[in-house]
Amino acid sequence: MSTHSLIQTLPKTELHVHIEGTFEPELMFAIAQRNGIEIPYQNVEEVRQAYDFHNLQSFLNIYYAGAKVLVHEQDFYDLAWAYFEKCAQDHVVHTEIFFDPQTHTDRGIAFETVLKGLKRACDDAQEKLNISSHLIMCFLRHLSEEAALATLEQALPFKDDIIGVGLDSSEVGHPPEKFARVFAKARAEGFLIVAHAGEEGPPEYVWQALDVLQVNRVDHGVRSEEDSKLMQRLIDDKMPLTVCPLSNLKLCVVSDMREHNIRRLLAQGVMVTVNSDDPSYFGGYVNDNFIAIAEALDLTAAEIKQLCIHSFIASFLPESEKQAWI
Ligand code: HPA
Ligand code: ZN
Repeated sequence: MSTHSLIQTLPKTELHVHIEGTFEPELMFAIAQRNGIEIPYQNVEEVRQAYDFHNLQSFLNIYYAGAKVLVHEQDFYDLAWAYFEKCAQDHVVHTEIFFDPQTHTDRGIAFETVLKGLKRACDDAQEKLNISSHLIMCFLRHLSEEAALATLEQALPFKDDIIGVGLDSSEVGHPPEKFARVFAKARAEGFLIVAHAGEEGPPEYVWQALDVLQVNRVDHGVRSEEDSKLMQRLIDDKMPLTVCPLSNLKLCVVSDMREHNIRRLLAQGVMVTVNSDDPSYFGGYVNDNFIAIAEALDLTAAEIKQLCIHSFIASFLPESEKQAWI
């Protein structure tokens, strides 16, 4: 079987995808038009041309601007539904979706509007596509601890629909420990914990994610390789890393896919998984990420299968459901 067919055929989960990062320009234009909101582009080609990033911040500026056209519950539904259709194409049978409530509530959109739209799409995906999902709410780390605490309070009435909390946005200068109290409260409320760490930030931020935030998974974490003690800790704890190869390439975390460390991390026994992060902005969904690393790093069929198995082990699915897929 060809590598492409193998990747296409294998069932998998996706554990690191920002729903706002799945916003394709065509849908952005359609929603902007129906909401009467101006966007600073004439057409879809102009939008795609703007997607030329040199680091995380240069991407985030455009990503937050695009999200401004999302206003109504139906907008959030349409955004998530379009992503679920991509999941179906890529044989993603389960996905754990990040959303950034502060990007919307800071513009006067109700938390409930965002959540209800996303949740309705999740319910429809289960019913119509047989794809299961969880929602993970991320705090924007460039904003204050106080703002994150207020967001956590807003989420409590919807606790049953949100499996966990995470930490995203501008990493350098905003270490995990800035949010120690927010994550302690989230843990006490029963949320599972993830955090972006070691994407652009140093290994020290991964240590803080583990020891201060007490994460269940690390998002990205690729810079952990710079610290051998940290590597041993990740291996000993079977701590998953949700790696996003095309994101790392587009945001210049690596300068060439042939230099990506995911294969080395896998060989050393780290629980790495493959994910798309912000597929509309970075040039591909999860299978495109598999193909990119399979080609650049010459992955074997066994390695590709192992990465898919990891995606189930590292998921927040009940143990019995994981086993059924492995
Ligand atoms: N890193 C940090 N914040 C983000 C990302 C990312 O890759 N994508 C969307 N928000
Ligand atoms: Zn991310």
